[in-house]
Amino acid sequence: MTDTLTLPQPDDWHVHLRDGAMLAAVAPFTAAQFARAIVMPNLREPVTTTALAAAYRDRVRAAAGPGFTPLMTAYLTDTTDAADLVAGHRDGVLTAVKLYPANATTNSAAGVTDIARVMPVLAAMADAGMPLLVHGEVTDAEVDIFDREAVFIDRVLSPLAERLPELRIVFEHITTADAAAFVADAGPNVAATITPHHLHHSRNALFAGGIRPHLYCLPVLKRERHRLALIAAATSGSPQFFLGTDSAPHAAYTKEAACGCAGIWNAPFALESYVAVFDAAGALDKLEGFASRHGPAFYGLPVNPDTVKLERAPTPVPDRIGDLVPFHAGETLAWRLVSPLLP
Ligand code: NCD
Ligand code: ZN
Repeated sequence: MTDTLTLPQPDDWHVHLRDGAMLAAVAPFTAAQFARAIVMPNLREPVTTTALAAAYRDRVRAAAGPGFTPLMTAYLTDTTDAADLVAGHRDGVLTAVKLYPANATTNSAAGVTDIARVMPVLAAMADAGMPLLVHGEVTDAEVDIFDREAVFIDRVLSPLAERLPELRIVFEHITTADAAAFVADAGPNVAATITPHHLHHSRNALFAGGIRPHLYCLPVLKRERHRLALIAAATSGSPQFFLGTDSAPHAAYTKEAACGCAGIWNAPFALESYVAVFDAAGALDKLEGFASRHGPAFYGLPVNPDTVKLERAPTPVPDRIGDLVPFHAGETLAWRLVSPLLP
């Protein structure tokens, strides 16, 4: 039995760090596990321009401390200035652009109302080699919430990939067998991130003995067969699938509410959570690719020079950390991140 694993330090290719006091509270947890992270731009005032991203990057750096590199994204709107984003990418401020369909999720009201409106921006990004990160759900209220990702592939993503084959696309936080199959078939310009919570839980967990607001996120958990397809994709060794936690903190009282917020804060035990899945699948040898190598390869960045060590050791997860309830609250995980130390 393998009891220790040493990996090049992983990166988180999809995280929500927020701003202000919340940023100060959560950034150290992400920085304790990951060398770099793709920082989502869905602040209350979305990060829509290069200048806003540069200012937000300074705030993230201050909160996370030295040794952590935030990789910034810009939030696409119907009126995005393509030249600004391409210049931001060229100058090293922006790593990618995020597409939120309008009203798909937290702070997405300013998102794109119709993909046709942003085609010139996407074409400019394809020319510049700037990746598009996609929240892949339709917002049509008539589409069943459990089908919104699969319908998005048919209506939006598949036509887009056909029309702009040079555009580099990351299908973020995939939740279905349909998405895993789409990515695998799409070729090397298309990749996907997979969260720990979608690997651990099917939608049954949302209703186990009562409603579980701390397991509510978007895209929502799906059927068991989809979870199994995600595990197969994550442990396949394919460079098209890599780690992205979608850690999305919301104060506990905003989730334990009549209309609770979507998002799971998994940053504090993210690697311990992923390693449990790879261990249960008999695929510990595939964790290094998924966590440490495939993401840098897709983004054209070097693998991190430092290493982290995980060891088999009981790791209790607290019920709360400040105002937040972490993923796996109250459970004891079977692996521990030995270094670097938690804050
Ligand atoms: C995210 C958030 O809270 O910002 N919530 C979530 O459930 N994942 C937004 C998102 O990634 O959809
Ligand atoms: Zn997200």
